Parts: sequence; C-alpha cells; structure tokens
Amino acid sequence: MVKKNACVFISGTGSNLKHLINNSRDYNFPVKISLVISNNPSSKGLAYAKKNSIPYLIIDTKKRNFEISTLNKIRKYKISIICLAGYMKILSKKFILSFSKRIINIHPSLLPKFKGLNTYARIIEKNEKKTGCTVHYVNDRLDDGKNIIQKSFFLNKNDNVNILKVKTQKLEYLAFSEAIRRIYRYS
Ligand code: GAR
Repeated sequence: MVKKNACVFISGTGSNLKHLINNSRDYNFPVKISLVISNNPSSKGLAYAKKNSIPYLIIDTKKRNFEISTLNKIRKYKISIICLAGYMKILSKKFILSFSKRIINIHPSLLPKFKGLNTYARIIEKNEKKTGCTVHYVNDRLDDGKNIIQKSFFLNKNDNVNILKVKTQKLEYLAFSEAIRRIYRYS
C-alpha cells in the first residue's frame, strides 16, 4: 500500500506521537509519519522522532518568518496531513489556508465542551458525569472545527486530574489512529 506522508506537531511529552508511530507500522495504516515538528526544543517527544529516524524540525514561533519556513519544509516532505498531537500553539489562518490539505487535532474533552487549557481540572470542578477525547479538523479558532471522532467514559467519584489524564489518554491513543483510518477510508 502506498502510504501518504503525515507530519506530527508536538510541544511536550509526545505520547500520542509515540502511538501514531507504532500504529503507522501496520501495513494497512494509511499514513507514514514522515516529519515531526516541535515548537519546544526540550520536548520529550522529539526522542521518539530520533529513535525512529524520523526527520524533525524545531521551530521558533517568535521568529517573524517561521510559518513560511515551516510550510516550505512541509512541502519538501510532500505532507498530505498535519496531525496536532499536543501542539500548544494556535496555527494562523494564513498558515491553514496556505497548507490547503487536512489538519487535525486531538483534545482531551468532548468538544465543544472544555476547549483550552487545564481541561481535566475544569471537568472535575464542573462535576461532569462523562468525559473523553475528540479528534477534529482544525480551523483558526482554538479547539474548534468539525469533529471526526469522539471516545468517552463515565467519571468515577474519586477520579482526580491524574487519573482522568491516564483514562483520557488511553482513549486518545485509539481515537487518533482511528480518525486517520476513517479519513482515508472515505477519501
Ligand atoms: C494530549 O492529551 C492532547 O489531547 C492535549 O495535549 C496532550 C499531549 O500529550 N492537547 C490539547 O490539550 C490541545 N488543546 P502528549 O504530548 O503526551 O501526546
């Protein structure tokens, strides 16, 4: 099977990246992780790119032309889909329009609920009965855009931020790959 090239954007731990890399080894998985981009030079997730000999790029979002140089790199690698996996910056409208292909993001809540940061603490504070994760198309608004897939579970009385994170991320690892499979099955 001829796989499309995917670029994964990260900012931190990169556990979603790790699972995407592992799942992409499956012969039938529609994409290959061909490029990793991080806005954070000390992002732990970069270790997965290095370990798997995947080219990576560290970007400085404070530099005026960083979007142009990022887009050039993405074009060079013939990227068909950008996956935001814990990338904690908002892509500009200009960047999104210039790329013109698919950009998807994973978020640890049942969007449109709980967009933004400190998601788990806010979910507990609001006494939510159910939570989960969402993979969605990206637009120029934070954690917005059409949903591709959601996975959910019911909260327990003693769930705290750490427990919620573990439970949610377990679902994220399944949801991200399932979303990618779904996109290419119907395209
Ligand atoms: C993930 O849980 C993802 O949902 C969240 O960051 C985490 C990154 O973890 N993203 C957002 O909150 C986006 N608004 P990872 O670096 O271990 O994959």
